[in-house]
Amino acid sequence: MCEVKDLDECYRAAEELVLYAGKIIKDGIDTRKNVKSKGIDWDLVTEYDRKIEDKLIKQLSGRFPSHKFIAEETAAKEGRLPQLTDDPTWVIDPIDGTTNFVHRFPHTCISLALLVNKKAEIGIIYNPLMGQFFSARRHCGAFLNGKPIKTSDVRDVSQSLVAMEPWIAKDPQYLASVYSRMHALIQGTHGIRSLGTAALTLCYVAMGAVEAYHIESIDAWDVAAGKLIIEEAGGVVIDTAGGELDLMIPRVVAACNQQIAQQLVDLFKKPIQRYLIKT
Ligand code: IPD
Ligand code: CA
Repeated sequence: MCEVKDLDECYRAAEELVLYAGKIIKDGIDTRKNVKSKGIDWDLVTEYDRKIEDKLIKQLSGRFPSHKFIAEETAAKEGRLPQLTDDPTWVIDPIDGTTNFVHRFPHTCISLALLVNKKAEIGIIYNPLMGQFFSARRHCGAFLNGKPIKTSDVRDVSQSLVAMEPWIAKDPQYLASVYSRMHALIQGTHGIRSLGTAALTLCYVAMGAVEAYHIESIDAWDVAAGKLIIEEAGGVVIDTAGGELDLMIPRVVAACNQQIAQQLVDLFKKPIQRYLIKT
């Protein structure tokens, strides 16, 4: 039940701030940006990421002084990932899909979650460029622009559309697993889609636009809000090996239901099947 009064206040503040941050993204999308890489040349940040994150933290800590934060650009600046505790904690990705934002590919969003006792109570993901405002509160359902959403009812992975992000194969430690999982998906599903924003792709699972999503090598801020939105829409988010997701080291299989999630876990465990090219 949504009866915690403080959470109502938190939700109202979060909604207002995310809508405001959306204006910053809209204003910035067509401008020349100051693009920097964060150590690795394909992990980008702009002045807009920092501006939004600073604004959200300043406003939220002003209203809720005891609350904590786990936020992408602050973690990058400090070179450390804060610990997740039971305290109310805002998990912030000021721009998820920064590379999309830089390239003006209009799939980019703000992702904001509030966790209490390590459980997400509020999740908001907003793509201002496409006018998509996804929201959820624990036990209250998931919504797109105020209308309830639910996951797809497909139960056979061979009938599903699955999103994944092959770019993480740039990192040699993921190369073999990415290629073999892509192979498994090409052979075993209706198709693969790749959006370049983990948070929004999780929402696409929630709204039934894809049956599942697989990604690794991401962080809590990419997943915290989307996980709640999917769960409130009837789906599941589990670890790639099966079992519970570790939010602080997320290896994500997100799916419209437990059956599809488990079938993907099993598919990824199978050794790559050799196939013959007939000449
Ligand atoms: C990235 C996006 C992308 C995912 C990356 C993330 P960012 O977040 O979510 O889809 O594949 O791992 O880092 O850098 O745009 O906030
Ligand atoms: Ca980001």
